Amino acid sequence: MSNFEKNILITGGAGFIGSHLVRLFVNKYPNYRIINLDKLTYAGNLANLRDIENAPNYTFVKADIVDAEAMDKLFETYPIDGVIHLAAESHVDRSISNPMEFIFTNIVGTVNLLNAARKSWNGNFEGKRFQHISTDEVYGSLGETGMFTEETPYDPRSPYSASKASSDHIVLAYYHTYGMPVVVSNCSNNYGSFHFPEKLIPLCINNIRHNKPLPIYGKGENIRDWLYVVDHARALDLIFHKGRLGEKYNIGGNNEWTNIDLVKKLCEIMDRKLDRTPGTSAQLITYVKDRAGHDLRYAIDATKIREELGWEPSIKFDEGFELTIDWYLENQKWLEDVTSGSYQKYYEKQYVAR
Ligand code: NAD
Ligand code: DAU
Repeated sequence: MSNFEKNILITGGAGFIGSHLVRLFVNKYPNYRIINLDKLTYAGNLANLRDIENAPNYTFVKADIVDAEAMDKLFETYPIDGVIHLAAESHVDRSISNPMEFIFTNIVGTVNLLNAARKSWNGNFEGKRFQHISTDEVYGSLGETGMFTEETPYDPRSPYSASKASSDHIVLAYYHTYGMPVVVSNCSNNYGSFHFPEKLIPLCINNIRHNKPLPIYGKGENIRDWLYVVDHARALDLIFHKGRLGEKYNIGGNNEWTNIDLVKKLCEIMDRKLDRTPGTSAQLITYVKDRAGHDLRYAIDATKIREELGWEPSIKFDEGFELTIDWYLENQKWLEDVTSGSYQKYYEKQYVAR
């Protein structure tokens, strides 16, 4: 028996987006028990959740979603009503050098969770929900025009996006085959606090602080659509409570930047905040070998979630970007902690040895 109105399992809650979602749910829904399941890979960090770790409605479980038995046990231990599944290997560059981790976690791990939920719910899906968090990268690469809608055919081009596409298909197959109460969302690039510094924005903030080169792949002309992470978490909350089962929802910032323009803007702001002569940080920009199979452009058409659920981004990019940069400057200890240890080895292999 549980005294909580609902028991919600959030996977990957110690990562970047997951930690924002856990924080939102723990604070907004004191009647829900939030169970954060995370393997604590290099990308998962309990320091992302210090402010809520002692909340009475929060529980942390360290486990690997690839371990099917552990997933079954978890569903036997807690009367789980809802799953919000974010746990994944999430970095495209790592998927290029080591695809198997992505196959195991993103595909096998997702199937293990679906199977454990299905076994536990045993055909009684009343009040139950399995929400799968995915990416716009499953749609492939756009040319100069057009946007991804929910109907855009899948065309993943990296081991990461192919593993996410595969998991999306399996989740929706469980809806059609077994009637599982699933919903899927595909979001564009997030930015904000607690973003691991292997990704473009936090990597460049960290390197500017240390006067290290800012590695720009190719000509820096690739385009990404950036969304403040708190707005993604708000969208996931709405989808969890009001999204239609069996549906997909695209989430995006309507905020396209070429990588080079984005990094130049970051350099200007960092010069101002660090009291450096304008132009100092931009001198660190260094063009390096392009990412293999580098998708040119992503852009999300978020009409469906806006019209059906009333969601749109609440934070303008200029404001979110400043907030993000300020957070990194004020949280240098966090940055130092997550970049010590295995990060150094990754960085050498990815950038220095090229
Ligand atoms: P992240 O890499 O910051 O965090 C992933 C989390 O999953 C970490 O806490 C890690 O420890 C955990 N994890 C990894 N393997 C695990 C396993 N086998 N078992 C249990 N836990 C495991 O990722 P993120 O950027 O927060 O992305 C979260 C989700 O959102 C992913 O599914 C990703 O595909 C998706 N997504 C990310 C973005 C983005 O811009 N970052 C955009 C759209 C969708
Ligand atoms: O679109 C959503 C996706 O966004 C998520 O599904 C992924 O989990 C997330 O990692 C992110 O993928 P990207 O590959 O777009 O993000 P990343 O920050 O790695 O790169 C952003 C852009 O910057 C991309 O065009 C590659 C480029 N880049 C990246 C790095 C790390 C560089 O030019 N130099 C770099 O050092």
